[in-house]
Parts: sequence; structure tokens; C-alpha cells
Amino acid sequence: MSELTLLGLCGSLRRGSLNRKLMLEAKAAFGPARFAEGDLRLPLYDGDLESEEGIPEGVTKLAGQIKAADAVVIACPEYNKAPPGVLKNALDWVSRTKGGPWAGKPVALVSATGGRAGGERTQFALRLMMVPFRPRLLQGPEVLVGAADEQFDADGKLINERNVTALRDLMAALRAEAEAARAVADKAA
Ligand SMILES: Cc1cc2nc3c(=O)[nH]c(=O)nc-3n(C[C@H](O)[C@H](O)[C@H](O)COP(=O)(O)O)c2cc1C
Repeated sequence: MSELTLLGLCGSLRRGSLNRKLMLEAKAAFGPARFAEGDLRLPLYDGDLESEEGIPEGVTKLAGQIKAADAVVIACPEYNKAPPGVLKNALDWVSRTKGGPWAGKPVALVSATGGRAGGERTQFALRLMMVPFRPRLLQGPEVLVGAADEQFDADGKLINERNVTALRDLMAALRAEAEAARAVADKAA
């Protein structure tokens, strides 16, 4: 089996994003893989823009990355108990592309928040948002990093054993899904 491809999406655009740190910890926990981060810095969805100029290049690229990935990890911030517009906007744009890139795709969600609950509500809302795209969304273990500004060391490593264990188990499950899907595809080829 050739090397797996893992795509990371982070719903925060800011440079110091704690969710990006968590996404990179998820990448490390996934194990050997080709990794890329999708760029969610896209124009706001606008039906006029779509009909006049077509699907933006960045959206086409993102949809292609999702389609080509063996697995996707989404690091989802919590803004007012829900996923940020950046992420919803990207999902809406990708839904306008052809080929159903999410269908059957192994996907894991993680979140890091300032609040203590670690993004339980944002993850639940994101699960609902993704239903139309029919990914293989892992049900757990949940990775909910609360009080996240206290949860990473200077190198961006998670310091709390409970978070480390949950992330390790979630990413092991994601890897198992990706490998199983790859084995089926290789057999069919
Ligand atoms: C508009 C906005 C709304 C927020 N709402 C919540 C919230 O509902 N729950 C929570 O735990 N943190 C909330 N926060 C704090 C974020 O969890 C915190 O800023 C976090 O670090 C953002 O993710 P990032 O570090 O990846 O950018 C909010 C932050 C912003 C900017």
C-alpha cells in the first residue's frame, strides 16, 4: 500500500490558531502520511459570483484535495456555540463542485476552544452540517480541548494526557478507516 494522504482543514484563519496546533498534533498522531492543509481563505459564497465567474480556483483546488485524500481531519473552532463562517463557507462552496468529494470519505473532527467544554456544541453542529455530503464521519472518541490556551507547550504539543490519549485513539480509528478504504480500492483496481 502506498503512503496515505491526510488533508487537514482548520476553521480558524489566524496565525496563532490553537485549532491549527491541534490539527498538526492530529497529523502527528495519524502517523506516516503525505499531509497538506487546505486553504479556506475563499471568497464569501455569492451566487452572482458563481454564475458570472464560475467556481473560484481555490474552491476547485480544495474539492480536488478532499477527493484525493484518504482521510480528512477538521479542526473546528467554536464561535458562539457553532462552527465559524469560514468553515461553513468552504463547505457551501465545495458543495457547488461536481463529483461529491466528501462521499464515503473518512473524516475526524477535533476542536480547541477558550471555554471549558472544548467545542462539544460546535462539533455537534458541524456533524449536522456535513450530513448532506455523506462522509464516513467518525463518532469518537471526541477530542474536545477546552481552556485551549493552557493545553499546548511552547512547541505546540498537547500537554494533557487525556487529550493526548483521545487524539491518539481518534486518529488511529481514522487511519484504520483510511486503510480499509484503500484496500478495497486497490482490490477493485
Ligand atoms: C466570535 C467568537 C466567538 C466565540 N465563541 C466561543 C464559544 O461559543 N465557546 C467557546 O468556548 N469559545 C468561544 N470563543 C473563543 C474561542 O474558542 C477562542 O478564541 C479560540 O482560541 C479560537 O480558536 P483559534 O485559536 O483556533 O483561532 C469565541 C471566539 C470568537 C472570536
